[in-house]
Amino acid sequence: MSYEVTKTVIGEKINFKNPNPAFYEALGEEGLRKLMYDFYDIIYESEIANFFPQDHEEFEKVKVKNTKFFIQICGGPKVYENEAKGMELNEYMVRLHDDFSIYEKSRLEWLGCMQQALQKVDIAQELKDDFWNYVESFSKLTVNSLVDDGKFYANL
Ligand code: HEM
Repeated sequence: MSYEVTKTVIGEKINFKNPNPAFYEALGEEGLRKLMYDFYDIIYESEIANFFPQDHEEFEKVKVKNTKFFIQICGGPKVYENEAKGMELNEYMVRLHDDFSIYEKSRLEWLGCMQQALQKVDIAQELKDDFWNYVESFSKLTVNSLVDDGKFYANL
């Protein structure tokens, strides 16, 4: 089934695989850029909009910067590399999210926005599924906050 989500479990080893370059090839750089801009436009209207700059111009900058990461991680040109300060790209990305309190619930909202954006894209479902598997598993590494009773907020 497409767009499945599994729960983040603390301490569990998270295996993830970067997206199949065929996803990037099917979309092309412009197609991927369009997907990601669309995704961030959905984020801007979502329950996690407050994590991001509220100022429209600042948000546009985030969109452009984040999209460069996705172009590179999907197998496109290395347009983001100099942002990663010499660290392995995924490791850098996990560290970067440590500056924000991301709950399981935030992750689910993020993934929901991604699902909406992906559903509008007209390429083979299996390529979208492959990309989904990357974001579904990698996003677990961005979850870094619990509620006070020690349980994940949204094992809903
Ligand atoms: C597959 C999972 C995810 C990926 C690949 C990803 C990717 C990125 C990238 C590339 C950036 C920009 C880094 C930079 O400044 O150069 C970023 C920033 C950020 N991400 Fe994520 N992210 C993921 C999940 C999440 C989730 C679940 C949240 C939940 C709220 C989140 C919230 C943020 C925030 C708040 C920023 C900072 C935006 C700013 O610059 O103000 N991310 N992310």
